[in-house]
Amino acid sequence: MIPAVVPFSLKEAPALIERLLPVQKLSAEVFKERKAGAGQTLVPLGAYWKGRKPLILNKACILGCLLPATDNPKRDLEIFEKLMAMDDESFVARWPRRAKPREILGTLSIAHVADYFVSDPPGLIPHSAPVDWSKPDLQHVKVNWRDDISELDRRHIEIQMLPRDPYRKRVEMARRPEEIIDTVHAHIWDDVNEHLGTSAHSFPQLVEQLGIMRFGHRPQLADTFSGSGQIPFEASRLGCDVYASDLNPVACMLTWGSFHIVGGSADAQAELECQQRRLVAKVLQEIDNMGIETDGQGWRAKAYLYCLEVLCPQSGWMVPLIPSRVLSYGKRAIAELVPDQINKRYNIVVRSGVTEQQLAAAAKGTIGRDARFSDAYLLHEVNGVSYKTKISTLRGDFEKPDGTIGNRIRAWEKTNFRPISDDLFQERLYAIHWMRPKGTSKSFEYEFRTVTDMDLERERIVESFVGKHLTEWQTKGWVPDMRIEPGGPPRYEGLSLIKARGWTHWHHVFPARHLMLLGLIRKYGSDANSLIMLSRILNYTSKLCIWSTSKPGSSKAGEGGRTGGGSDNPVNVFYNQALNTIYNYGCRGAVPILEMFNLKVVPSPCVGKMVVACHPAADLRISPDICITDPPYGDAVKYEEILEFFIAWLRKNPPPEFSDWIWDSRRSLAISGENEDFRRGMVAAYKRMTECMPDNGLQIIMFTHQSGAIWADMANIVWASGLQVTAAWYVVTETESAHREGSYVKGTVLLVCRKRQGLHKTTRDDLAWEIQEEVQRQVDDLAGLNQEAKGLYRDENVFEDADIQMAGYAAALRVLTRYSVIDGHDMTAEASRPRVKGEITFVDGLIAFAVDTANQCLVPQGISKGHWDKLSGAERFYLKMLDLEVRGAKTLDNYQNFAKAFKVRDFHAFMGDQRANHARLKSAVEFGRGEMSEGSEFHQSALRAVLFAVMELMKDVDGSEVLAHLMLNIPNYYGDMTQRELAVELADYLSKRLDVLRPDEASAARVLRELVKNQRLG
Ligand SMILES: C[S@@+](CC[C@H](N)C(=O)[O-])C[C@H]1O[C@@H](n2cnc3c(N)ncnc32)[C@H](O)[C@@H]1O
Repeated sequence: MIPAVVPFSLKEAPALIERLLPVQKLSAEVFKERKAGAGQTLVPLGAYWKGRKPLILNKACILGCLLPATDNPKRDLEIFEKLMAMDDESFVARWPRRAKPREILGTLSIAHVADYFVSDPPGLIPHSAPVDWSKPDLQHVKVNWRDDISELDRRHIEIQMLPRDPYRKRVEMARRPEEIIDTVHAHIWDDVNEHLGTSAHSFPQLVEQLGIMRFGHRPQLADTFSGSGQIPFEASRLGCDVYASDLNPVACMLTWGSFHIVGGSADAQAELECQQRRLVAKVLQEIDNMGIETDGQGWRAKAYLYCLEVLCPQSGWMVPLIPSRVLSYGKRAIAELVPDQINKRYNIVVRSGVTEQQLAAAAKGTIGRDARFSDAYLLHEVNGVSYKTKISTLRGDFEKPDGTIGNRIRAWEKTNFRPISDDLFQERLYAIHWMRPKGTSKSFEYEFRTVTDMDLERERIVESFVGKHLTEWQTKGWVPDMRIEPGGPPRYEGLSLIKARGWTHWHHVFPARHLMLLGLIRKYGSDANSLIMLSRILNYTSKLCIWSTSKPGSSKAGEGGRTGGGSDNPVNVFYNQALNTIYNYGCRGAVPILEMFNLKVVPSPCVGKMVVACHPAADLRISPDICITDPPYGDAVKYEEILEFFIAWLRKNPPPEFSDWIWDSRRSLAISGENEDFRRGMVAAYKRMTECMPDNGLQIIMFTHQSGAIWADMANIVWASGLQVTAAWYVVTETESAHREGSYVKGTVLLVCRKRQGLHKTTRDDLAWEIQEEVQRQVDDLAGLNQEAKGLYRDENVFEDADIQMAGYAAALRVLTRYSVIDGHDMTAEASRPRVKGEITFVDGLIAFAVDTANQCLVPQGISKGHWDKLSGAERFYLKMLDLEVRGAKTLDNYQNFAKAFKVRDFHAFMGDQRANHARLKSAVEFGRGEMSEGSEFHQSALRAVLFAVMELMKDVDGSEVLAHLMLNIPNYYGDMTQRELAVELADYLSKRLDVLRPDEASAARVLRELVKNQRLG
């Protein structure tokens, strides 16, 4: 009989994540998940949600909190990796194709083939492998695994068939563990149970048993900033009881959807599919009955293209505003503006199959800009005369007495849903993209056509339908009647929806066709599932969908590239985190929109109890054992503003499942920004969570790592909330495509915390020693584990320098936040004190001191501690990064992190390449004569002098001249003998590090070292 686990046997045990986390492997797995794009498990529910925390990262955090750290860290790591499917045996299952027995026998050396395999006909193959299958008598021999060979044994053998690639490369090739969730862990349970004293054969069993051992019951996990539900969903499918809450009802809805749709059973999903099919049929029936999307010739509208039209004040002509007249690069289709002299307007004629020149000419429309972010202007030509008018002039921009800019655009009335006749901006349909089934096959043919009178007649039908039903539908909540709040939502360029177009209510943002279609969907589908589908669809509707046509080599929205869809399609609204008004837009027809009801999700059953609630995090009312949260930190997405786009459609008459939630974004309660309000909001939330959790509860706070003040901020919040930091890890969470966007590489810091216990007091003097010891121990622990685990990692490190640095900081914070009173200061009160801009608080001082102490412990090999202590931050940065470069580090985030650590103000000045994945320092030659003068952080530094000397030697400057310059460039070279020793050490360090990287420079550094060593002074 399997012994039952003992309740509370792990009550006081440190959690695994407080000791170790294989962050390098985890980063590779996160990267893999991110790259799956729309294939990520929960993304189909709402691709519009930005900033999802990867499921694999969440799994690592949840397991890391439940698993104990034992006195055998190496085995802890091995077991953790098995649970994460990071071990070799799991890779056999994760590999796209498993090796066949014949392949195995043809490749591996196996002493007794019969120990593992049976052959048919028997007795023909040799006793031992490898087998030469080219022999004619072996051609038809079939080989199979013996029935009694376990899955684990098979995997042991198949491991040898996997390529011996570095982990990151392996992960690239392999499937994600969750794609084969039912089989990937088949081999692990005996080892897991033996190590942990459990008797589990699945995650829910393991989680329950570990929960009993730590907390006395199945663990309850809370995420009070649940967003799209990524953390609670993972917790629930692993087997935790879950409490998920968020201030925003759209977040609650997505979290609910993750539990009940993706986390529902296959049967529930099949039922949902039928229900949605019925809904689609009803809506389409109404549209088709009115004949508003078909031409009567078998064609159906795929998309309508609309533009604004405006009266040019100079020429008196009505001019369509179209930045590019290209409709399709594939079909070489363009919209041609044909002057109508009599009516002083343009007819818009669609031409397909035009020449390359015509296509190129059409890329220039009637909107121009002198530079990307400069003012747009209207541009057109009548009878050889060009007219150019700024859009701001058209709008009538003027400065108000309070200094803000107003304009003369009419604010739309609630009853409006299109411009009225004397509005400045009119709207015009200018082309239609039609589709028709190709014969009996499932594929379609497509064509772009000029708008006809019949098309305009169909427009009138839609408009009169919407006009007739708008008020009634608004009352019923089928279409929005909610106001757009002044000031938001955010946009990247240009003006807000209100200022740019006069739109005051959310329904103004949608074309009449979409108001009708979405209203009908809302009419026939008011249940919880349908509202989730409706929100998914909303992302592809409105007047904010840029028309996109593919052009090789371009992928940015608005540049004719493919963004948010295939070629010749309107892109999605949330291609970024803002709502931008545009001059022309694509409006998808009913069929392409309704097709989106066909939700493809892989069922992934959630097992624990699940509760979703809508309230501010500070109002938590339950007692979770573990809180894992990803709060809105710093420059994060302004969820409370952009999600009003959805709330407007969902808020009235919500289904019972959503009816307890407040259907309002409650901006004033949202935590955002980085200022005092942010800190206050965060402290209120984390204080409450801390109060609610048991004494042995755990918290993980995730946040992106960009702001320089991050450590001070987080330490203040943790301290003021009554928490103590116990560990910190840095996981790279962004994908390559995000890297390409700019040079900011984002990772996620995981701050592991516990309740601060007791009332410990200390003094600053004692702290110095304590921090030093703790950091040193932490560094040694991880470095030791690196050594021990060598075999596990095929020569890769478990922890890179940056990880050790992060752990070093955490160790420093661990010591600091353990204390309630330092030098007589009550730390909770100190940390809660409002910040005064520019002031360095007592806490800031302590943090800086702790971080400095941590940095002292991270001296690169080859530099003596005495010298290191004397170097400036910039010098330390250069030397440290060189060390990392030699070991293959190339990502810019490393440089960002270390620059912060060494307090380098502008590390860019030292960079030879700043591309996200090709970052490197400047060589001595690249520095040339730069960075010597007073403004530079390298000014008068020994390292700069040494690099200068190396550069001169590489340019064949005479040795004595080089030395003379060196003596001038290093302050007090004569007076202080240690300066000369430092120069020798730096030259030696450069020569050794650069040997492979830049051999010529290394050799110059060697020459310099000898020159200085042999120099006679005086
Ligand atoms: C960074 S997101 C969480 C993302 C989530 N982890 C995911 O993977 O999708 C932060 C969330 O905090 C919510 N929020 C902001 N202020 C809040 C408050 N005072 N109380 C509760 N939730 C709040 C926002 O609505 C947002 O959903």
